[in-house]
Amino acid sequence: MQLIALCPFGLEKLTRDEVKALGLKVGGQAAGKVFFEGGWDAILKANLHLRTAERVLAVLGTFPAGDFDQLFEGTTSLPWEEWLSPHTTIVVEKVKTYKSKLTSIPAVQGMVQKAVFQRLCDRWGLRSLPQVGPVTGLRVYLEHDRALAAVDTTGPALHNRGYRKNAGEAPIKENLAAALLLFSGWRRKYPLYDPLCGSGTILAEALLFAFDIPPGLRRAFAFEHLVPHVALDWKILKDEGRAKIDTSHRVRICGSDKDLRVLEAARQNLDRLELDVKVQLEHLSMEEARADRVGAGDDAGFLITNPPYGERLNDRPHAENLSRQMRHFSRTFPGWKLGVLTSLETFPAQIGLEAYVVRNLVNGPLPVKYYQIQL
Ligand SMILES: C[S@@+](CC[C@H](N)C(=O)[O-])C[C@H]1O[C@@H](n2cnc3c(N)ncnc32)[C@H](O)[C@@H]1O
Repeated sequence: MQLIALCPFGLEKLTRDEVKALGLKVGGQAAGKVFFEGGWDAILKANLHLRTAERVLAVLGTFPAGDFDQLFEGTTSLPWEEWLSPHTTIVVEKVKTYKSKLTSIPAVQGMVQKAVFQRLCDRWGLRSLPQVGPVTGLRVYLEHDRALAAVDTTGPALHNRGYRKNAGEAPIKENLAAALLLFSGWRRKYPLYDPLCGSGTILAEALLFAFDIPPGLRRAFAFEHLVPHVALDWKILKDEGRAKIDTSHRVRICGSDKDLRVLEAARQNLDRLELDVKVQLEHLSMEEARADRVGAGDDAGFLITNPPYGERLNDRPHAENLSRQMRHFSRTFPGWKLGVLTSLETFPAQIGLEAYVVRNLVNGPLPVKYYQIQL
């Protein structure tokens, strides 16, 4: 079966490597999509383990869809009843069209819904669908007059790990935070410090990564309501994941922020991971941070952070000033690597230090860049 891991733009290579590392067969990739092959177990594995992906789709089929008749026929020819249960609410939640004659998203959505409902009513001997229970999302991508129809196996996007109930302003998504750690080359033997840690997402993702904790262990998934789901298989896979967690490694992960309120949120989020590990959180302004204050000892480590971007005009001077202040890290954190995710185009000029890695990414709707600098 063809499967797709959706991911934010710029993370395709990381997601692809993660899929490969799960022992799954990777196919091609496109912007925000990594194609791979596998059976039901691959769906479970990918949802449980992928740190950088957004969701996992199971492709039911592709077919010509140059007009509405073809779209209807192609959709009704797919074996929806093998996937969808009458105990869920079936919604065509996403349609994208690219270089195709059918361009109206609501019209495509309506036609696909009609076709799926007709097939299911025929197979189930019903006049209308009950449309009760949790939502099962369907997706249709039209490209060059061909449609690809898929079932969403994830539900709420994968970045919803379940540990972050409290957030400050502009929290980074969990999968993007995980991506920064992977891009940076950080490993658990190195100190890690986020001097603008907000609600602690980068720190929490570092803990999951350091101890090999599957990010999907503590949440529910849409696949639990699909026909092929067998609760026992899912339990076994999660138990295997749990068995591989190793919290005996010594880690030095710390964060600070000038806002006491968000630090409290960070503490609660980290506590929700229920790990018997102390993460140092300091109430500190970034300008006061020094390697010896954050318990790093003499070892050089990684400063990875997501500062305020100054997107609103009034906030820009603060964001620029913070970028200038980061220049002093070369004195206060000598030998460390600094990784910064920002949309501030003047960041390189403000910090005045050369980045040896620059990656174009997106943070929600915003184009951002990840800079990595050797201090
Ligand atoms: C974009 S948020 C970080 C969000 C964080 N990555 C998360 O996931 O919640 C930026 C953080 O920088 C903090 N901050 C701004 N200026 C600061 C300064 N001079 N010193 C320390 N923290 C500061 C804010 O309080 C805010 O929590």
